[in-house]
Amino acid sequence: MNLVVLTGAGISAESGLATFRDLGGIWSQVRLEEVATPEAFAADPARVQGFYNARRAQLFRVAPNPAHLALARLDALWTRGDFLLVTQNVDDLHERAGARRLLHMHGELRRARCLACGEDHPWLEDIAPHSACPGCGAAGRLRPHVVWFGEMPLHMARIQEALAGCDLFVSIGTSGRVWPAAGFVAELRGRARTLEINLEPSEGASLFDETRHGPASRLVPAWVEEMLTA
Ligand code: APR
Repeated sequence: MNLVVLTGAGISAESGLATFRDLGGIWSQVRLEEVATPEAFAADPARVQGFYNARRAQLFRVAPNPAHLALARLDALWTRGDFLLVTQNVDDLHERAGARRLLHMHGELRRARCLACGEDHPWLEDIAPHSACPGCGAAGRLRPHVVWFGEMPLHMARIQEALAGCDLFVSIGTSGRVWPAAGFVAELRGRARTLEINLEPSEGASLFDETRHGPASRLVPAWVEEMLTA
């Protein structure tokens, strides 16, 4: 049985990272048009860098929760088929929990991309105006390696290939409001079994064969246990 698991900000909520669209979420604090688009970066790079520098610094103050740890355990122990964890999150909690077969379709806070050479590199501190590319040395040409609205998500060919062959698709902690991730469940109808695990019904809840609503830190370990003992 080939598994594809999709995660969103809700899986990191209990680690202390704010989601985007819940009450008090990130997009109620700052307008995404001002910090999460190429136009915003062109207009005010310092504002955009500051937004991502603050979120990158926060990574040092949070830790994986039982949901991240359970998915890493499933990744390590699943032998009855393929496994791929696709996350919309840019935090590093899945890696720190031990996940290996993981793709960040919206990029990663802890990498910086160079506009001069196009390469992305590990990057843990603030990106400052004069920061130099670890690869080509160009100064002042680094941006967050995060996919902004209007940009193409990453690893889509590999994700589509995994979806084409999957038998069970599980969506965890995402509101189903942002494409293309929001469209994965509809693509799979009639071809794979689909399960939503979320605090409350997402936009696409009615498209899933099964939904389980409650906190990820409780529901995800229970589901993983079921998968490993079935
Ligand atoms: N356990 C499970 N689910 C939770 C929890 C929790 N403890 N807390 C919140 N949730 C759910 C909410 O009910 C909501 O449906 O997580 C979802 C979070 O939704 P969003 O804030 O919209 O985050 P996400 O779906 O990841 O957003 C997708 O939008 O802004 C862009 O690029 C950004 O990757 C992000 C994308």
